[in-house]
Formats: sequence, structure tokens, C-alpha cells
Amino acid sequence: MELKFGTKFPPFLLVVLMVLCSSAYSKLMDDKFLQCLYQDSSANATQPEFVFTQQDTSYSPILQSTIINLRFSTPTTPKPLAIITPLTYSHVQSTVICSKSFGYRIRIRSGGHDYAGLSYTSYDQSPFVVLDLKELRKITIQSGKKTAWVESGAMVGELYYWVSQESQNLGFPAGICPTVGIGGQLSGGGFGALVRKYGLAADNVVDAKIVDVNGRILDRELMGEDLFWAIRGGGGASFGIVVAWKVNLVDVPEKVAVFSLSKTLDQGASDLFDKWQYKGHKLSEDLFIRVIIQPTSDGAGNRTIQVIFNSMFLGSVDQLMETMADSFPELGLQEKDCSEMSWIESVLYFSIYPKGSSIDVLRDRQPEPRSYFNGKSDYVKEPIPEEALEEIWKWCLEEDNPILIMEPHGGRMDEIEETTTPYPHRKGYLYNIQYFEKWDNETIEASEKHISWMRRIYKNMTPYVSKNPRAAYVNYRDLDLGTNDVDNTSYLGAMKWGSSYFNENFKRLAMVKGAVDPDNFFYYEQSIPPLISSEENSDSGSYQSL
Ligand SMILES: Cc1cc2nc3c(=O)[nH]c(=O)nc-3n(C[C@H](O)[C@H](O)[C@H](O)COP(=O)(O)OP(=O)(O)OC[C@H]3O[C@@H](n4cnc5c(N)ncnc54)[C@H](O)[C@@H]3O)c2cc1C
Ligand SMILES: *[C@@H]1O[C@H](CO)[C@@H](O)[C@H](O)[C@H]1NC(C)=O
Ligand SMILES: *[C@@H]1O[C@H](CO)[C@@H](O)[C@H](O)[C@H]1NC(C)=O
Ligand SMILES: *[C@@H]1O[C@H](CO)[C@@H](O)[C@H](O)[C@H]1NC(C)=O
Ligand SMILES: *[C@@H]1O[C@H](CO)[C@@H](O)[C@H](O)[C@H]1NC(C)=O
Repeated sequence: MELKFGTKFPPFLLVVLMVLCSSAYSKLMDDKFLQCLYQDSSANATQPEFVFTQQDTSYSPILQSTIINLRFSTPTTPKPLAIITPLTYSHVQSTVICSKSFGYRIRIRSGGHDYAGLSYTSYDQSPFVVLDLKELRKITIQSGKKTAWVESGAMVGELYYWVSQESQNLGFPAGICPTVGIGGQLSGGGFGALVRKYGLAADNVVDAKIVDVNGRILDRELMGEDLFWAIRGGGGASFGIVVAWKVNLVDVPEKVAVFSLSKTLDQGASDLFDKWQYKGHKLSEDLFIRVIIQPTSDGAGNRTIQVIFNSMFLGSVDQLMETMADSFPELGLQEKDCSEMSWIESVLYFSIYPKGSSIDVLRDRQPEPRSYFNGKSDYVKEPIPEEALEEIWKWCLEEDNPILIMEPHGGRMDEIEETTTPYPHRKGYLYNIQYFEKWDNETIEASEKHISWMRRIYKNMTPYVSKNPRAAYVNYRDLDLGTNDVDNTSYLGAMKWGSSYFNENFKRLAMVKGAVDPDNFFYYEQSIPPLISSEENSDSGSYQSL
């Protein structure tokens, strides 16, 4: 094995390598695999506390601990041979080396929110292990320098909490849901209420530590700018295991203002939504107004649509009232609709936690309620014509519990070039749409009914959303867009979904993949296929996987 960059292997890894080189192995040699992992363990028990096989009583609770989409927690969902919860980076290194030698795939899990469950299940019949980073969640804040190192197993809510403990004037621009993992979110982008002011979470990453396919730990300097570019939005898990991220923290005022204003169709919801389409992305960068659309019942018990304008403003209620009077008077916002609170309290305001919860729930990693769910995404570049809205409302009313969430771009998102990070949906994108639905009925029929409704509305929306490519957000992963062919993982084969997520950046991602993982060890259903630069011109790179 070539040791580039003068990286030092810990001595145990050399032992591991020597042992492996001299031993024949088969795919079912679990014991040898475990021995391989244990080389590094100081534990003297037969099984150290960071590896859990199917025989262990903790296997199932650990596996399920962050599965929040019950669709991927059924008896037929493919399960890992073992779950490894590394306590140190060297455990991550040995997992890579040992898994590679034994022909196991690795599924990397941080917060487990992947829409398709790809962080803990695998559909191609190969044996796999789950590398669950839940124990690697240290957060170190350098408040003077306004930076923090955060390990991938932390939840975004924990980062928010500890940043706010350090200073009331510091925040971080990641997603709205506090239980999402840092590892998945930062590697796919990450947006929330600060997106118009500060861009994506990934836009604010300044360094990272990754364990690569050879088991080396590389920081930004060692990995080089191409790989560092790729991991900040390229979808995660295609390039290695990012164990920690250094992020820039951002300024937030001592108090922010929030409101949540709900209008039904009778109350002029359609017209207000139409106005928002023209204004949402052009408002002051300090003002984020997202829109949530869902069926509700009116006073008479009839089903109607409600449009909720859900907002955070980086300033006082007085300033918010002035800004709204200048830029969006039609909404008719009144002072009584608004509240002032600290930024960290606004995190709770937007979250799933019950009203009145203490901010300590963020620190305590209070889990997300589990349910069956499904999601898809779109981006809008031209306002949807007002006539079409009636139709969209009708489609929503046909379904039990759908929810459409629209989040404005513009502001900082317009200023960042399309190629700066892999996330390409920048200037000219007005807002994104997330179609989301949760349900409790565990039958396959129920799942099929809800999934087919979502496929239908997605198809119906075609004329109103971005085209060529039809853009999608990789963090709302959607396997309907296409998946890799396990026997023939090719750049061309992945083009359709690859360009939806990454547009022109897809090719550069594939070339980075070709450079750092040409044998496609970090393969999964929607991993970036490797493209070797000599084949760049023919666009015909095609590789056998594992
Ligand atoms: C309820 C809910 C709310 C959400 N809200 C938002 C939101 O407000 N804003 C937003 O932008 N997104 C949001 N998301 C989407 C979320 O950002 C993505 O699902 C994200 O990928 C989840 O990260 P995770 O670590 O929790 O997931 P995981 O399932 O652990 O990982 C997701 C993907 O990243 C890979 N990965 C995880 N950790 C690493 C690592 N350390 N190194 C390399 N690859 C890794 C996994 O293998 C998998 O492919 C939400 C999702 C849900 C379910
Ligand atoms: C196991 O290791 C621990 C710490 O390394 C040590 O204290 C303990 O005595 C050991 N137990 C046995 C049975 O060897
Ligand atoms: C509710 O719907 C029924 C049936 O369409 C209709 O007759 C009734 O007038 C509606 N009620 C209201 C308050 O709109
Ligand atoms: C679950 O869905 C099935 C099929 O759609 C239906 O027959 C059943 O009544 C549902 N169960 C509940 C509890 O709603
Ligand atoms: C692999 O897939 C690509 C693109 O889908 C296709 O052009 C090529 O012929 C395939 N190769 C093989 C060996 O099947």
C-alpha cells in the first residue's frame, strides 16, 4: 500500500495489514473480521464495547436507536452483520481496513435521518456493517475565533446548544430539525432559517477530518482542495468517513423575532402564497419566511388548505414590523403575531419539541418521534401561475396528511457561485419544495398508497418546477430519481439523478471519486460513480463495483 502525504499509520494498523496479507479469508469469516477489529482494542474481553454482532442483545436497540423512518425497520429490511460504534478515530480506520479486506461494505451513520435509510441498510445482497458515529460527538468551540470543531455524530441541535452557551451572539446556519446528524447534514448541504443570510451549513465549513479508503486520516491540507470541495455537499459517504468538521460560527443578535401566521383559502391563502413567490427570495437577508402548506378543517368541519407563513427575523419585533410594512404589507402581519426570543429559543420554536420545552432537550439528544415517512424535493425558478395553485390544492386535499414545505433562497444563496460547493441550486432559484408525508399504519398497502400519491403529485408538478435537469436536494434523498447499477456503476448511468442533485458539479464529483476511490469501495445505491480523468472526454467511465 502506498503511503502518500507521509501519513503515519498507528502501529496496530501495520499489524492488521500484516495479518491480513498473510491470511486467506472468506465472506463469512466473522470471527476473523472481529479479530481484525480488536487488534486495536485495549479491551481484554472477547468483544470490546464498540462492536455489536447479531448475537448481542444490544445489537437491535443500537440499530434502531436512530432509525426514524420505520419503513426501513421491518423484518425484511436488510440488516448489517455488525454495528461498530467507534470510540476513537483509530476504530474508524480499522473498520475501513478490515471491511475492505473482508469484502464487506460499510454504511456510515451519523444521525440516521437519511430519507431512504441508506445509512443503515443496503439493497445489493453484499454483507455490510454499519459504522455508527454516535459516540464521536465532541464539540469544541473557539468563540474568540468564531469557529468550532464538531464531530459527525453530534446532532445539529447539540451544536446549536453549545454555541449558544458560549455566546448569545453566535449561531450556526444549519437545518431546522435539531435531531439531524452533523455528518449527513454537512456532507449534503444543510439549510434552515439562516440560509438567506449565511448560506448552507456546508458553505461554512473551513476544515474537516476524513478517514479515506486506505484508512488514513486526512485534514484539509492533506486531502487537498478537490476532496475538500466534494465533501461539502457532495452527498456524503461516497468519499470516506468524515469524522469531524471545523465550521465558522456566525453572528446573531441577542434577540430575534419569529412569527407563524396561518391563512386558509377563505382567508386569501392563494393570493398571499402567490405574492410570497415573488417576494420571499428578495426580502432582506435578515428575514426568512418559509411556507408550509397542508390540509386542515375549516370552522364548519370541511377540509380546506391552510398556508402557514413561518418566519424568523434577525432583529427586534419593531424592526420586523417595519421591514414587513415596507416589503410584504399584504400579509397583514400584526405585532401580536410576533414574539421576541434568543436565537437558541428560536431553534426550539421551529423544532418538533413541544411548546415550552427547555433548550436542554437539544443538549440531551432527545430523539425524533418515529414514523413511516416519505419525501421528495423540487426547486422553483419561475413563480407557479396562480391558476395552477387551485389544482395543487386539490391534489393535496386528495391525500390524508400531506405537507408541502417551501423554503426561500435568494440573499446569500444568490451570491455564492454554482461551483463553489457541490450544491448548485443558487442564483435564479426562488425556493425549494419539499413534499413530505408521515403515517402510522404499518401495512404495505398503506405505504404504497402514500408513496403512490407522492409520485403522482411529483409528476403533476412537472410543468411548474425547474427543468433540464429537474433539480433535487440530495439531503432529501429520493431513490425514484435512479440508483447505481451494482454490477456496472457508471457515470453515464448515474447522470440523471446525479445532475438533479449536482447539475454541472456532478462531473467534478465523479472525477474526485475516481481519484480518491477508483475501486468504488464506498459504493452505495446513490454514491458518486468514479470517473477517471483519462476517460473524461469520452464521458464513458464505467467500473465494476466491489
Ligand atoms: C425530520 C427531518 C428533518 C430534516 N430537516 C432538514 C432541514 O431543516 N434542513 C436540511 O437541510 N435537511 C433536513 N433534513 C435532511 C437531512 O439534512 C438529511 O437527511 C441528512 O443527510 C441527515 O443526516 P444524518 O446524519 O442524520 O443522516 P444519516 O442517515 O446518518 O446519513 C445520511 C447520509 O450521509 C452519509 N453520512 C452520514 N454521516 C457521514 C459521515 N460522517 N461521513 C460521510 N458520510 C456520512 C450516510 O451514509 C448517508 O448516506 C431533515 C431530515 C429529516 C428526516
Ligand atoms: C482487563 O483490562 C483492564 C484495563 O485494561 C484491567 O483493569 C483488567 O484487570 C483486565 N481484566 C482481565 C480479566 O484481564
Ligand atoms: C361544507 O361542505 C358542504 C358540502 O360541500 C357544504 O354543503 C357546506 O356548505 C360547507 N360548509 C361550509 C361552511 O362551507
Ligand atoms: C391500514 O391500512 C390498511 C390498508 O390500506 C387498512 O385496511 C387498515 O384499515 C389500516 N389500519 C388502520 C389502523 O388504519
Ligand atoms: C454500463 O452502463 C453504461 C451506462 O448505463 C452503459 O453505456 C454500458 O454499456 C454498461 N456497460 C456494461 C458492461 O453493461
